[in-house]
Amino acid sequence: MSGIGPVSVGVGYSSLIMSVRLDQTALVTGASAGIGREIAGVLAEKGFDLVLVARRGAELSQLALQLENEHGVRAVAHPVDLLRENAAADLQSELEREGVIVDLLVNNAGLIEVGAFRELPLDRLLRLVRLNTGVLTELTHRFLGSMVERGHGRVLNVASLAAFQPVPSLAVYAATKAFVLSFTESLSEELKGTGVSATALCPGLTRTHMVEQAQEASSLARATPSFLISETADVAREGVEACLAGRVIVVPGVPNRLQANAVRFYPRWLVRTIGGLVGRRSL
Ligand SMILES: NC(=O)c1ccc[n+]([C@@H]2O[C@H](COP(=O)([O-])OP(=O)(O)OC[C@H]3O[C@@H](n4cnc5c(N)ncnc54)[C@H](OP(=O)(O)O)[C@@H]3O)[C@@H](O)[C@H]2O)c1
Repeated sequence: MSGIGPVSVGVGYSSLIMSVRLDQTALVTGASAGIGREIAGVLAEKGFDLVLVARRGAELSQLALQLENEHGVRAVAHPVDLLRENAAADLQSELEREGVIVDLLVNNAGLIEVGAFRELPLDRLLRLVRLNTGVLTELTHRFLGSMVERGHGRVLNVASLAAFQPVPSLAVYAATKAFVLSFTESLSEELKGTGVSATALCPGLTRTHMVEQAQEASSLARATPSFLISETADVAREGVEACLAGRVIVVPGVPNRLQANAVRFYPRWLVRTIGGLVGRRSL
């Protein structure tokens, strides 16, 4: 494929790693924390300039400065509430005005709600659906066309291990992640031969604020042994490398890969029933 070719040259100093600038730009949503912040770091290390998007501007600016200093790339903070009306359209126009071309889009920003569906506030569930699926779809649509025109580009959509099976206690969240996985797989086929690829990153439990939130609300999440909780650095690196290699699905971590594969070999009613037995206990 022309274009995106990850080139990262470490010069061997432990405290100063210089990247070759690729003159390619990655836009990362949800870059102020957690997995998105680490993905931005891995991309900077590989020489990508960055557009960092999330609501918390101070965190984004601090990260932009850090990535510029550590990796010699350009990084710009774009504080945006992606749930605000026209946020994605405004972001696209602003980047066009600034002459920024997005070569790699990371749809990472996401929300979670843990609990019995009927007890969770509807407005919060609808915000989750909009951010995890609607905003992701809109940003992909807005930036994909020009990638295809240029004949190169990458889309990295952050799904979840929850995409592979129904998850009682995370009913709406899991459904949004099933959407992300299905959407990305369809897209990857549509994009064959264009020089653009789409990758679904499907992490299991990963040590971030989102997991703290899940642990507050769910005894099951609290009972998860810590060796089964991935580190953001590992998840981000596997995700970015799979994306740059044009892989369609990546599930970081051996236990998570075993789980994702196991559900394919059991009848759906059995997967659902086991999920129900486990999920109801955590409510
Ligand atoms: N942690 C896990 O166990 C896990 C597992 C599987 C998949 N995932 C997925 O990984 C992705 C990142 O999650 P995380 O665990 O890193 O969570 P996190 O630490 O809570 O980070 C979420 C990110 O999304 C941003 N965000 C939230 N609402 C936003 C909005 N309205 N507009 C713009 N940005 C917004 C947040 O930034 P601001 O607050 O600054 O806006 C933050 O940067 C999500 O899609 C999640 O579903 C996580």
